[in-house]
Amino acid sequence: MRSLLSRRDFLGLSIGAAAASSVPEFQAFASSNESAVKDFPTTTFSSDQTAVRFYSKAVVEPVKILQLSDVHLFIDDERGDEYRQYSERMSKAYNHTRHFESGADTNPQEALKDIANRAKGQGYDALALTGDIVSFPSAAGVDYVKKTLSDVDAPFYYVCGNHDWHFEGMEGTERELRDAWIEKRLKPLFPKDVNPLAYSVKIKGIKLLFIDDSIYEILPSQLDFLRKELADAAPSLLFMHIPLYAPGRRVAFGVGHPEWNAAHDGNYKIERRPRWPEEGHNETTYAFRDEVLRAPNLIGVFTGHIHSYSLDVLNGKPSSVARAANDGSTLKIEVLPYPTER
Ligand SMILES: [Fe+2]
Repeated sequence: MRSLLSRRDFLGLSIGAAAASSVPEFQAFASSNESAVKDFPTTTFSSDQTAVRFYSKAVVEPVKILQLSDVHLFIDDERGDEYRQYSERMSKAYNHTRHFESGADTNPQEALKDIANRAKGQGYDALALTGDIVSFPSAAGVDYVKKTLSDVDAPFYYVCGNHDWHFEGMEGTERELRDAWIEKRLKPLFPKDVNPLAYSVKIKGIKLLFIDDSIYEILPSQLDFLRKELADAAPSLLFMHIPLYAPGRRVAFGVGHPEWNAAHDGNYKIERRPRWPEEGHNETTYAFRDEVLRAPNLIGVFTGHIHSYSLDVLNGKPSSVARAANDGSTLKIEVLPYPTER
């Protein structure tokens, strides 16, 4: 496990070394973003739990996004019969919820329908689905998402959570199961011909990055993707399932958390999955978090997983967790041109 001291030293070294030719792994970022580092325009952020607004001099046209996370649909049909032993526990989770606004009894299916109805005609440019949309890889659940969100006059973009692809107790590593069930079940939720583990869309000059961190770890190809995508200095938002580590946060804020390791894995038995590794995160995951925090044009990070709202400001950058949408909760994200000043 890396200590907090060594993490600080590492970050300090990486910033200091950005312009040095002796540290090639940071040089690509430094050279491509040198002017962006110096010149990325003033950007502000404000939040009131159900809506956030960025104002930036780098933005020309307003962009409006609705984030929803952790719907946890549990519906299933005969296509799931042979997998019942793996879906049983999660098929009973979050079956009844209370609507966030009215307090009325509801459930994930009704909550998603309610979200779609409220989103219609509101001028959204996109819906961002940040994982755990289904509680296990249910074909009926995937069909339901597609059908329900097709009523909204905005496209949706999806990235996996740790439950979307997980059949509990099924043999295989998390990477293998994620790849397999994306292919077998979840693919219809992604845009055509993208890499489900890392893709981007550009809307009116704003880049939305979708990176799958649902195994808590980042792959080298995902780190490369992030670096390349950020090199053009477009204002960018990052959407993932599991939040970045922030000092003081519990280990579920897991990407780059120094305590993410076997000793702090309390759920591997109940979730019937491999235990987190003894040695904790790989270097790629730490480097990914550092890169996110350092990039001036990556203006915000939006995640789920925790099920309750939180906001951390990391290196001046908002890192936000959305409430679970299984009670109808959403987060409206607006990226707006900076107001004219005297
Ligand atoms: Fe969840």
